[in-house]
Amino acid sequence: MYRTNTCGELRITNIGKKVTLAGWVQRSRKMGGMTFIDLRDRYGITQLVFNEADNAELCNEANKLGREYCIQIKGNVNERQNKNDKIPTGDIEIIVKELKVLSTSLTPPFTIENNTDGGDDLRMKYRYLDLRRPAVRDCLELRHRMTILIRNFLDSKDFIEVETPILIGSTPEGARDFVVPSRMNPGQFYALPQSPQTLKQLLMVAGFDRYFQIAKCFRDEDLRADRQPEFTQIDCEMSFVDQDDVINIFEEMARHLFKEIRGVEIPKLEQMPWSEAMRRFGSDKPDLRFGMEFVELMNDFKGVADFPIFNEAVYIGGIVVPGCADYSRKQLNELADFVKRPQIGAKGLVYVKYGSDGSIKSSIDKFYTTDQLKKVKQTAGAKDGDLLLILSGDNINKTRIQLCSLRLEMGDRLGLRDKNIFKCLWIVDFPLFEWSDEEQRLMATHHPFTMPNPDDIPMLDEHPEQVRAKAYDFVCNGVELGGGSLRIHDTNLQERMFEVLGFTPERAEAQFGFLMNAFKYGAPPHAGLAFGLDRFVSLLAGLDTIRDCIAFPKNNSGRDVMLDAPSEIDTTQLDELQIKLQPKEV
Ligand code: AMO
Repeated sequence: MYRTNTCGELRITNIGKKVTLAGWVQRSRKMGGMTFIDLRDRYGITQLVFNEADNAELCNEANKLGREYCIQIKGNVNERQNKNDKIPTGDIEIIVKELKVLSTSLTPPFTIENNTDGGDDLRMKYRYLDLRRPAVRDCLELRHRMTILIRNFLDSKDFIEVETPILIGSTPEGARDFVVPSRMNPGQFYALPQSPQTLKQLLMVAGFDRYFQIAKCFRDEDLRADRQPEFTQIDCEMSFVDQDDVINIFEEMARHLFKEIRGVEIPKLEQMPWSEAMRRFGSDKPDLRFGMEFVELMNDFKGVADFPIFNEAVYIGGIVVPGCADYSRKQLNELADFVKRPQIGAKGLVYVKYGSDGSIKSSIDKFYTTDQLKKVKQTAGAKDGDLLLILSGDNINKTRIQLCSLRLEMGDRLGLRDKNIFKCLWIVDFPLFEWSDEEQRLMATHHPFTMPNPDDIPMLDEHPEQVRAKAYDFVCNGVELGGGSLRIHDTNLQERMFEVLGFTPERAEAQFGFLMNAFKYGAPPHAGLAFGLDRFVSLLAGLDTIRDCIAFPKNNSGRDVMLDAPSEIDTTQLDELQIKLQPKEV
């Protein structure tokens, strides 16, 4: 037997027990004639004691052990004199009688402790060592627990888990596909699924009525803290339901997860229309942990003074930052620089300081009178001591999105985005289409299978941009955790959608003929949703990036630095695939 117990298991009640343990050497300390070793495994740390007076040879062996050696020991559980209340095994130690080195270790390139000295790249290169660190291991354990809770919850609601293929054709979700060349069909490619969207709809046509899958999805898009090229969805679909049925069941699932994992009770969630979220927070994923809602100031500023920037604007809005009227010039300059960064793109920042002594100071004193700024104070609901930050622009939603970045920045600066508070809501009534500057055409906001709001269908031809979708997102703390929609299950309506999206009938047939044909065989009304598992885990674990809850993540350039992927492949492999690479430009 390699071990009788784990390194996290033994307690004061086990004193006198003969045990065999196996694990890794975390740390060793020599004190006089005694050598102490912290032995670590997945379950915890147990202190080992080697006493020179008892067995000099054994103690000598112990002194040769290096960090991360993998060892097995036999010994007796003993009560510790200096108890350590920081670890669950801190009352006991093992007086070692036998030691066997199972495997030696090179000196690890960074310390295997929660506060490691290893930088990101180094840790990713040696991810198997990084995963030995308790903080990282805890994230994977949490992910496992969540997955089990989700499977059990959905199973109890009659969902069945069906695996859909990874080698498929293109599924349009707005990102680029990763493609895989086919050897048996030269010149042809599979695409990896951006999500199992069309397949789960086919499962509804097949009568499976409640489907789920913990599904791997692949998207070739720019990476961010909450985006990986390969990620996991809790993908679900249901037949014979309306929007509220889907919202209710997945709100219940989310509530169950918050309760089981964090002990937090989530109240019945608000459903906020997209247009309201944009107006109040400039975002389709508002962070409701703090206030600073937008105030619209067009009437107070536009055309009442000789300030061209405001006079030409189509949107002027601000946020009232409580208690910050004493911000220094340096702090205000920093904020102006922040909104002018290319990622945000504002032209400038206007401020008004409503001093606690009743004074008013602003960056637009030259243009607006004190009385005018007093009126603004009223409109904005500012109090003495508050700072009003204002942005304006020639595109309403673009300016709102800029103001949203500023609001979040102020939330961060003032410590208002507490990771232990969870504010969830649904965003509903998304626009069905959005304009793409890149493609110069309307694109489906969610995906082309989303049902238009029946009240708006008459506007499909004349005013498609005003049509609302039967789509919903689950948002928590400013993160989009999940999204879904009612689907079109009628071939004619689906064809009309493709028309509005600029597909020729031939292209629609070539790309989606399989789905539209399936709809001709008694397609049930259906709807669904997918949560991002990585995002959900990292939110509940309080992480800053989803990378930390993925065993082997990619870095920001989409590389796996440990496997050194992607990489070039053999010319024989290329020849078999009949792929000719362009010669590299020198
Ligand atoms: P959507 O594209 O909104 O919907 O994706 C659903 C959820 O998946 C997560 N997510 C990601 N997580 C990590 N990295 C990424 N690159 C990434 N992209 C998305 C988000 C998001 O809310 N088929 C539809 C769902 C449906 O309609 O049923 C879909 O994929 O948490």
